[in-house]
Amino acid sequence: MLDFSLLLSANPVTVAIVVILLVLLVSLSLQWPANVPPGPTGYPIVGCIPFLKNRNILEVFRELRGQYGDVFSLKLGSNLNVVINGSEALKEAFVKHADVFSDRPKSFIQNNVFQNKGIVFSSGSSWKDTRTFSLSSLRNFGFGKRSLESRIQEEITVYLEIIEKQNGQPYDMKTITTLAISNIICSITFGNRFEYNDAKFKRLTSLFAENLRLNSVGGAIRSFPFLRFLPGDFFSLKKVMANFKDIKGFVAEQIKEHRSTLEEINVRDFMDSFLVEQMKHGEEDPIFDDENIAITVMNLFVAGTDTTSTSIRWALLYLIRYKPIQDRLRHEIMTVVGTSRLPSLADKPDMPYYEAFITEVLRLGDIAPLAVPHAARKDIHFRNMVIPKGSIIIPNLDSVLSDPELFENPYEFQPKRFLGENGKLNGKEKAVIAFSSGRRACLGESLARMELFLFMTALLQRFEFLPESPDKLPSFDATLGIVRSPKDYICRAVKL
Ligand code: HEM
Repeated sequence: MLDFSLLLSANPVTVAIVVILLVLLVSLSLQWPANVPPGPTGYPIVGCIPFLKNRNILEVFRELRGQYGDVFSLKLGSNLNVVINGSEALKEAFVKHADVFSDRPKSFIQNNVFQNKGIVFSSGSSWKDTRTFSLSSLRNFGFGKRSLESRIQEEITVYLEIIEKQNGQPYDMKTITTLAISNIICSITFGNRFEYNDAKFKRLTSLFAENLRLNSVGGAIRSFPFLRFLPGDFFSLKKVMANFKDIKGFVAEQIKEHRSTLEEINVRDFMDSFLVEQMKHGEEDPIFDDENIAITVMNLFVAGTDTTSTSIRWALLYLIRYKPIQDRLRHEIMTVVGTSRLPSLADKPDMPYYEAFITEVLRLGDIAPLAVPHAARKDIHFRNMVIPKGSIIIPNLDSVLSDPELFENPYEFQPKRFLGENGKLNGKEKAVIAFSSGRRACLGESLARMELFLFMTALLQRFEFLPESPDKLPSFDATLGIVRSPKDYICRAVKL
């Protein structure tokens, strides 16, 4: 066993030499079979990392797909990444071969922070049991049902009041939207919402935001596992882990409070339903222990907050840039709902233009263009190629959402592409796989769709959205992490 504390106290030249030797050892020990999916050769040790530096990865993938076909590979450090493109190959991999391609990659963070617990980063039976239990419990708390509607509307009422207080002055909707969406998860998991200025709530949301911002850590450490031994905190790994510890502390407090007031016959929220199962199965059952409750709740916050609030920010941006679309959407809302009450899910079937609009936001907004990485559970022959066990599998959802064969002029924002001559949806919306597909498909799709509908229609019913000034239009430029977000922008919400 190597003693890394000795290495850390050595002089920098020694450290550099040892690190290079380690890298060489790691790379020499990796021999992929000859017939792995084709792809660029890359450089020794680093593989294709230099090709990706400072480039739009989605554009790089489009080029590589043109060159190598729907299934290509990229060597990044010690990992073989296989990128799956186009609806046919995605279906074949994640639906037909779901038993092989539904794991998540193993990594230092996965092993040490998540310990194969929770939903988003776990694999195998632990993932399956936690996902199944969570989904059925969340359905009881209203996922996809009208009973959740009043919780969301309660949040929207506070949200609208705060926006109204800005009096149509230039305002960045980002923070308030993130707080509102995050509060809905609080309401489902903990049974109550927080005031936006509550110190604990503010701290919790800022810890999540910081960890999302630092998410490149996961990829770098996965490609070069030895980097975590470097002195200092160059990749912010220690910061990420400290933030997780803080968040877990907050959730642990909630568990304690819930446990002290738990009544089996009155299950108040998602956390209660977990604790009731814990009573039945015992605190040692790994699916219902405190650790799994905490990580699952953390997963819901991470997966459900930034994705939905970013979709709302893209939606507002498109409405500001395309005023006639905003007017047409508002006309539909005023015709179906009027102004005397908040829009309700019961109105949704009568609003095909809204449906076409939000589908186009999810398509061109391209919210999670590369989903979350999957991993190959075992070696598999796929389309006459070999994908070795442990390869990282990237579902390129962007390749479908921007496919010119499916969507004419794919880079234009055109909600009407989803409507037939009768003004109803024409079926093309089914190709918009923004929530991915197969067994790992987004667990929160029905909640996200409810939130998007209730927030967007309530906003447009009450306000006209305008740019900061006529010559300062928000930009279509995006920043890409796991979520693809619009650059920060300021707008004016003018009361109607
Ligand atoms: C517009 C909003 C959203 C979008 C576009 C979105 C998209 C996605 C995508 C692409 C994945 C990865 C699927 C894969 O690995 O193949 C995912 C996973 C997931 N999402 Fe969402 N999501 C959204 C909102 C939500 C919400 C509101 C929740 C719940 C509160 C949620 C919970 C999850 C969970 C738990 C997973 C992991 C599923 C698993 O690993 O089994 N998402 N989402």
